[in-house]
Amino acid sequence: MSKMVQQFEMSGFARELYSRITRKLHITISSLFLLAMASFVVVLGTFTFKLFVLDGSISSCFPRLDRFSPPSTSSPYSYILCNFGFPSFPPHTPFNSSLKSKPSIDVPRDNDSMWHPVTDDRELMRRAAMVRPNVIKFLGHRTPKVAFMFLSRGSLPLAPVWEKFFMGHEGLYSIYIHTSPEFVGEPPVTSVFYKRKIPSEPVHWGSATMVDAERRLLANALLDHANERFVLLSEACIPLFNFTTVYNYLIGAEQSFISSFDDPRPTGRGRYNKRMSPRVSLADWRKGSQWFEVNRNLAVEIISDDSYYPLFRNYCRPPCYVDEHYVPTLVNIVSPQLNTNRSITWVDWSNPGPHPREYVKKGVSMALLNLIRQGSKCTYNGRTTSICFLFARKFHPSTLDPLLRMTPVLFGFNV
Ligand SMILES: *[C@@H]1O[C@H](CO)[C@@H](O)[C@H](O)[C@H]1NC(C)=O
Ligand SMILES: *[C@@H]1O[C@H](CO)[C@@H](O)[C@H](O)[C@H]1NC(C)=O
Ligand SMILES: *[C@@H]1O[C@H](CO)[C@@H](O)[C@H](O)[C@H]1NC(C)=O
Ligand SMILES: *[C@@H]1O[C@H](CO)[C@@H](O)[C@H](O)[C@H]1NC(C)=O
Repeated sequence: MSKMVQQFEMSGFARELYSRITRKLHITISSLFLLAMASFVVVLGTFTFKLFVLDGSISSCFPRLDRFSPPSTSSPYSYILCNFGFPSFPPHTPFNSSLKSKPSIDVPRDNDSMWHPVTDDRELMRRAAMVRPNVIKFLGHRTPKVAFMFLSRGSLPLAPVWEKFFMGHEGLYSIYIHTSPEFVGEPPVTSVFYKRKIPSEPVHWGSATMVDAERRLLANALLDHANERFVLLSEACIPLFNFTTVYNYLIGAEQSFISSFDDPRPTGRGRYNKRMSPRVSLADWRKGSQWFEVNRNLAVEIISDDSYYPLFRNYCRPPCYVDEHYVPTLVNIVSPQLNTNRSITWVDWSNPGPHPREYVKKGVSMALLNLIRQGSKCTYNGRTTSICFLFARKFHPSTLDPLLRMTPVLFGFNV
């Protein structure tokens, strides 16, 4: 009997204990949950604080001498924070998530005076490829610029003509110059060309070093996200119209201006190497002038291409000239509909031989320039026009004086 009572009491005690434990457990779980929530908030707060202040992400938006030193340990978001502004930035970045494990990307702000060159080509191409048009969309409206990229040996003998061309249009253009690395000359502080040289490597005529230089120019220009159009020029090029006309023509164009055509002769198809097949077929193969003009999409395409360019480097060697085939063929493969297939830079190939005609002092006149300016027919955004060329080459340094005398008429200052 007492045993039964004991058992009863025992089970009563057990029940009491059980209910107490459940109650306790319930309270514990609730408090644990609250505690977890609280620590989550704290951790989140700390992270945000760290991101903004301790990691120096914000301070890395401001100029630093070592801004292009090897990637630091700071957050990969610093690029986004610097360039998009945190409050309005959408929660999901358009970047590939695999990017999160990579070091930070520190792209220069949109301020010409802060433009700092990147010396390592691979790093340069990687950074430039990040600034894709879909990233730019988040930046909101900003005035588009035209990037004028000069491929030159040394100084620009026709610079005074260009100075007049650019005068009064600050904020609508950017200038980049690739020279021979030994060239150390620098124009005066007042010049539009002052400190616009990019880190350069030796360039040999007809070799891939030429295309390397073009890609280097494009990559540097892509780092400024206001640049929308990219025109490659030489030291022997001149502008044929005033800045406003050139700017509106390029910014308003629906397509790019890359000369690209199928040349059945030995100097065209004859330079194709079967070993590029199957990636580049003879049907894809194109020829064209080196002096291209591309929009942002194509510029990114060119600098981030690592499937076609190695083939050109290996299998297009003299007498195949890579600068005459690579960009014309690439655009024909990746986006033929984005190209007008014509160059925006006039050159006279009427003399036979490997080099085009070079104009000297006696040869230049307003009549010649007007013929180049208005003497052709082509299509622009689907309409026929007589303005087919905005630039012309090759002009010898001796043409500087006559050209300077013509600039009032050329640029429409007193007409
Ligand atoms: C993201 O990156 C990974 C590895 O780098 C790659 O395999 C994948 O295709 C990328 N995805 C996109 C959408 O680019
Ligand atoms: C660019 O930066 C310099 C130096 O900080 C500053 O003086 C100038 O006003 C800035 N220009 C623009 C357009 O932000
Ligand atoms: C340029 O050439 C490509 C073929 O190479 C063609 O698909 C494209 O329509 C051409 N563009 C124009 C504007 O004719
Ligand atoms: C620029 O040239 C166009 C014609 O090409 C002309 O109508 C315009 O007035 C010129 N602009 C200036 C500022 O002279």
